[in-house]
Amino acid sequence: MSLLEVKNLVVEFPGRRGTLRALDDISFSIAPGEILGVVGESGAGKSLTGAAIIGLLESPGRVASGEIRLEGQRIDQLSEAQMHHIRGRRIGAIFQDPLTSLNPLYTVGRQLTETIQAHLPVNAAEARRRAIALLQDTGIPAAGQRIDHYPHQFSGGMRQRVVIALALAAEPQLIVADEPTTALDVSIQAQIITLLKNICHSRGAAVMLITHDMGVIAETCDRVAVLYAGRVVEIGPVHEVINHPAHPYTAGLMASIPDMAQDRERLNQIDGAMPRLNAIPPGCAFNPRCPRRFDRCTAERPELLPAGATRAACWLHAPEVAA
Ligand SMILES: Nc1ncnc2c1ncn2[C@@H]1O[C@H](COP(=O)(O)OP(=O)(O)OP(=O)(O)O)[C@@H](O)[C@H]1O
Ligand code: SF4
Ligand SMILES: [Mg+2]
Repeated sequence: MSLLEVKNLVVEFPGRRGTLRALDDISFSIAPGEILGVVGESGAGKSLTGAAIIGLLESPGRVASGEIRLEGQRIDQLSEAQMHHIRGRRIGAIFQDPLTSLNPLYTVGRQLTETIQAHLPVNAAEARRRAIALLQDTGIPAAGQRIDHYPHQFSGGMRQRVVIALALAAEPQLIVADEPTTALDVSIQAQIITLLKNICHSRGAAVMLITHDMGVIAETCDRVAVLYAGRVVEIGPVHEVINHPAHPYTAGLMASIPDMAQDRERLNQIDGAMPRLNAIPPGCAFNPRCPRRFDRCTAERPELLPAGATRAACWLHAPEVAA
């Protein structure tokens, strides 16, 4: 069974000039221990998808329809208190800026041990032992001393290691990581991603890794979902999506990975910009930018269709066209 199942998720923002549909019929699942990458341009809906899953959509944003299930149990209609418990215990969250996850007034040890003791049946001494072990596992040197330091006494990279330790403290089944290294020095981004991957693998935690960096996806994920204008346009095993992208938008994204571009002039080769939510074109939302557009693309909106080893929302893969 899937660990996480998102089915036909619609997120809307009611406003004075009408309702904006920011996520439109998003469906995907994550298996236990799997790393799913979620990629797409700025504004595609990556963070909103993560926020909906962890129950932290900002008002007036709301889940208008669809379902989110964790081990089969619906979690999209729980009370704030129930969701708070799930967030601590079963789903850990890592955000771009480590300071949003840490309380500046408490030592990291206090934050770790409080989280551990809130969710696991262990005494104070055992919680501290586990907290030190977590800091060690996330690569904090001299963890036995560093545990009594405050967040500001850590560098940005070390702080994000602390956040990873905190997210894993209650032994969650799923980690939602939203651009976990974007705020960090380029030189340490790869280290932190590798750490996240290894530590989640060794603990059997699944990860939803949100990033706009296809290179990170390529090195880290088992499967990848590509978002465009609030929809999943392609989803499949990471090597298939990278080597045989089925959606023209994915193909454009791939060309923006430096190592994969044939020549540097093809970098960022997708002309134009993603449409605003109030101006999504009819038919395929990507059609104004698509080099392979044909008649049907402006008339009818494609659903996800089987496309080789992946699925893609593109009419090129309609049985009668693909045949
Ligand atoms: N509070 C809000 N009110 C109205 N629209 C919103 C609100 N928050 C987000 N949106 C819209 O929802 C869409 C998706 O936003 P989201 O933050 O999920 O994008 P993203 O893929 O995470 O982008 P980025 O890479 O920049 O983080 C955007 O078009 C954004 O403008
Ligand atoms: S449906 Fe048409 S416009 Fe959309 S990605 Fe496929 S070919 Fe391009
Ligand atoms: Mg975002």
